[in-house]
Amino acid sequence: MSASDAAPNTVQAELIYFSAPTDGSKPYSHINADPVTGTWKRNWTSESYTVDIENIRGKEDSVTLDTAGFQFFRRPATHKAFTDDKAVEAEYYPESIEFVKEITGASRAVIFDHTIRRRRPGEIEDSPQKRQPVPQVHVDQTTASAIARVHRHLPPTDAPDLLRRRFQIINLWRPISHAAYDWPLALCDFRSVDPKGDLVPTTLVYPDRDGETMSVRFNPNHKWKYLRGIEPDEFVLIKCFDSKTDDGTALLTPHTAFQDPTTPEGTPYRESIELRLLVFYD
Ligand code: OGA
Ligand code: FE
Repeated sequence: MSASDAAPNTVQAELIYFSAPTDGSKPYSHINADPVTGTWKRNWTSESYTVDIENIRGKEDSVTLDTAGFQFFRRPATHKAFTDDKAVEAEYYPESIEFVKEITGASRAVIFDHTIRRRRPGEIEDSPQKRQPVPQVHVDQTTASAIARVHRHLPPTDAPDLLRRRFQIINLWRPISHAAYDWPLALCDFRSVDPKGDLVPTTLVYPDRDGETMSVRFNPNHKWKYLRGIEPDEFVLIKCFDSKTDDGTALLTPHTAFQDPTTPEGTPYRESIELRLLVFYD
């Protein structure tokens, strides 16, 4: 039997959810860890829950961007090194924009940042160069931060017009170097999310400005999924925001890294890159 034949359809793992500040204040967290303590300054606490996470290897087509909020693809990238930010921007950005436009039918797609993550147990994550997997259920954007991104990253002459039509924020997440068996990404099917009850806007404090992300409260209805052993020739599109709110289209995808209890012994540490894109439609 091969390793994939032996892989279970569902694994159980601990996910870390949000618990609101008890004094009623707006939640905040700092993006960088303190260089001495290695902890993130914040005014809220975490709660761990053991949940089922379905491995959808072999059933990748059961989820789409507009139903579940995320979708898997097998499309190798020409750029494979991911060691130099300038080369990533010059080579990996353009080919990824083409993938996203072709898949979604968007008329314009603008990458506004990328994050390379490499798991390094014990290392303090005090700068953008040292990002690691994120073991915390979250959504990258809120409505306010999505609109702010359009103003920040598009010319002022274009922004008002673009904001009148449908736009989305989508992440393109891909493993680097080897399959991501170690600390993979779990994604929550939008159809199992209660947007009003589960999501809490949270200030994200950067060194020079404030952003806003969604923290996520535990809800036993949440349906979690992952693609076991996702390979560097594959990627997942993760919808973080959609302005089309009138017809049941998936609006967003809570997600988190998790420790998979079935990770094979000796698996290399996870390495991945996510691009964040503003995606516009005519
Ligand atoms: C993301 C994200 C976390 C991780 O791509 O938005 O939250 O562990 N990634 O890769
Ligand atoms: Fe995220």
